[in-house]
Amino acid sequence: MADQYAGTDLGEQPPAPPPLPVLRWAEPPEGPVVVLLDQTRLPAEEVETVCTDVPALVRAIQTLAVRGAPLLGIAGAYGVALAAARGFDVDAAATQLAEARPTAVNLAHGVRRALDAHRAATDKGATPEEAATAALTEARRLHTEDAEASATMATAGLALLDELLPGGSHRVLTHCNTGALVSGGEGTAFAVVLAAHRAGRLRRLWVDETRPLMQGARLTAYEAARNGLPYTLLTDNAAGSLFAAGEVDAVLVGADRVTADGSVANKIGTYPLAVLAKYHHVPFIVVAPATTIDPRTPDGAATEIEHRPGSEVTQFTAPTPGATAGTGTAGGTPLAPLGTQAYNPAFDVTPPELVTALVTEAGVVSPVTRGGIEELCARSRQV
Ligand code: MRU
Repeated sequence: MADQYAGTDLGEQPPAPPPLPVLRWAEPPEGPVVVLLDQTRLPAEEVETVCTDVPALVRAIQTLAVRGAPLLGIAGAYGVALAAARGFDVDAAATQLAEARPTAVNLAHGVRRALDAHRAATDKGATPEEAATAALTEARRLHTEDAEASATMATAGLALLDELLPGGSHRVLTHCNTGALVSGGEGTAFAVVLAAHRAGRLRRLWVDETRPLMQGARLTAYEAARNGLPYTLLTDNAAGSLFAAGEVDAVLVGADRVTADGSVANKIGTYPLAVLAKYHHVPFIVVAPATTIDPRTPDGAATEIEHRPGSEVTQFTAPTPGATAGTGTAGGTPLAPLGTQAYNPAFDVTPPELVTALVTEAGVVSPVTRGGIEELCARSRQV
């Protein structure tokens, strides 16, 4: 069934596309500024948006111009560096950044790392300029570490896929967007898919469109196309019929927070995929850097879930080319009668017993248990 939907034939290897200008720091005369690829404008346009101060960066985070757990951490760290370089109140900026979105723990982690570096330098008697440099150095370090983690996860994730599916021709279903657009490197789950493709072992990537903001259709399909992957887009509610038809060998997703007991908060719609995978005896694999693990949140029920405006559900909110940067998802065609209430959580929580394995740069946890998470945290502190 799958091959009638073929986009690119198995084994075709177009040259790797140029890296996406996802996020960069610019020094004077352009800066100091944080420059982002405005993800609300993709796939129609590759447009950069320039954040000259922390409120602009907070807006970019909240409107999803910059998004995805690891990249939010990197953006948060550069945001602290930006406040410091421009002589703003660094503590206040750090608080605004860390609170911009509540679920992806990477955001608070990235902010804290740059803030701690700034404080440590200040405590040692550094000038404001030197303390700002310390924050920027830490942001750059986090950026590089995330790229390295992505490469390690890609290798480990592909080895796991090959072990679980010895046939060597994988049909993978994914949800939301987990590629270069969320990372200092090639991403989390998507990096594994890319590695499988490069190794000639990806038969098909099934891409959930990911209602309501279409990160799958707009962003994952875009990344799949530019990398020459054999991919097919489906509506989220078509996933069940795909499993029933025996077309899914594995589910690969990212995470926004993994709690101490191994519960996984990820884009809304992840949990039903895990239930489907369990019923159909298909491996459900979560790929996330160690920065996504939050041992301080005891379990899934304690995870703060972001709820977004109902208008994202009651209106068609695909980006509007030509809209002001970072506001491209505002407004749109009504899908429901005026005044309709909508339930719009941005994330759901998958319990650990539905997760076959958690792949991180510090190792693979399988089965996913509280003890396994504890061991991984101890190991990642040593890496
Ligand atoms: O609301 P978003 O687009 O920021 O949500 C992103 C996701 O849910 C991703 O799946 C998650 O951050 C993992 S990406 C490594």
